[in-house]
Amino acid sequence: KGQYGVALVGCGIVGGGTARILTQDKTFLQERTGISLYLKYVTSRNYTNARSIGIPEDLYEQDYDKVLSDPDVFVVVELIGGLTDAKRIIIAALEAGKHVVTANKALMAHYGPELFALARKKNVTIGFEASCGGGIPIVKVITDGLLANKIEAMYGIVNGTCNHILTEMTEKGESYQQALKSAQEAGLAEADPTLDVTGMDSVHKLTILGSLAFGERVDLDSIPVTGIDTLDLYDIESGKELGYIMKLLAIGQKTDKGLALSVAPAFVHTVHPLARISGAFNAVSIYGHAVGHTMYMGRGAGSSPTASAVVSDIIATALGITSKAFETLNLWPDRTQKARQLAP
Ligand code: HSE
Repeated sequence: KGQYGVALVGCGIVGGGTARILTQDKTFLQERTGISLYLKYVTSRNYTNARSIGIPEDLYEQDYDKVLSDPDVFVVVELIGGLTDAKRIIIAALEAGKHVVTANKALMAHYGPELFALARKKNVTIGFEASCGGGIPIVKVITDGLLANKIEAMYGIVNGTCNHILTEMTEKGESYQQALKSAQEAGLAEADPTLDVTGMDSVHKLTILGSLAFGERVDLDSIPVTGIDTLDLYDIESGKELGYIMKLLAIGQKTDKGLALSVAPAFVHTVHPLARISGAFNAVSIYGHAVGHTMYMGRGAGSSPTASAVVSDIIATALGITSKAFETLNLWPDRTQKARQLAP
């Protein structure tokens, strides 16, 4: 009792960070939460990274059916990214009655409503805090902290790779290629950095956060997007001479005519707080009708910050407090009728 077995699928940058926290901070986590989490299986393409961070060989398990049939496993943590295999892995876990925690923004943006419907049917939860904003608990801000508010607008920097690249170009005069390479070396970029630099990763996050904030289904294909791959050093330096810093912004606004959403590079005046968000940091401003302007910032990408969100979700799942709002409120688009009937 009080023992919670975790199955980790994927042990790359974020998976490795998650495995490290679960093993190295086990005692601390137990003292802090009163429950004992233990890493029971690591399923990954190979064991190189897991081995390099000292994860015992006997946790390596290639047979996913065996993982799912083990009653000691209460949560499957999907950290392989991408759409096809990740979707299959998550659906199989939900079907087997396991809770899921994921950092997969592309998957949630494309298939979130469908996956939540299955989770509700199976009476399990999906934690996806790590899908947006890395270590910043921005999903919980919207689904819990700001529930009293009609969200009128949100905007910010939601891709650490692009922000790192733009910072290096602005502050050090580095070329786009040099800066991209250093973002990859810092473990910020996606396996294929095209998603980062074309702005699509920001579109995925805006789809998720916009759906939650505005309570409407956001169709990711309808969001206009311009990436930082369209910029060169000259653009950045000319803006800087005039007192403006280039940032990739994700913007969402609720207007009389519907939602206005976009992702594009924009010049931000040097005195604006977003101008000072540098490197792998993300920052999101949210405007609620009751609270007014709020802003959240922190490390938005990388192994340990993203693992922080993953492990917090695992703990919340074990404690039974994951996204309770999803079970009773109309937060995500395509909610079941059941939720609507709950409203007076
Ligand atoms: N590649 C993403 C980024 C990782 O740079 O923001 C975090 O979602």
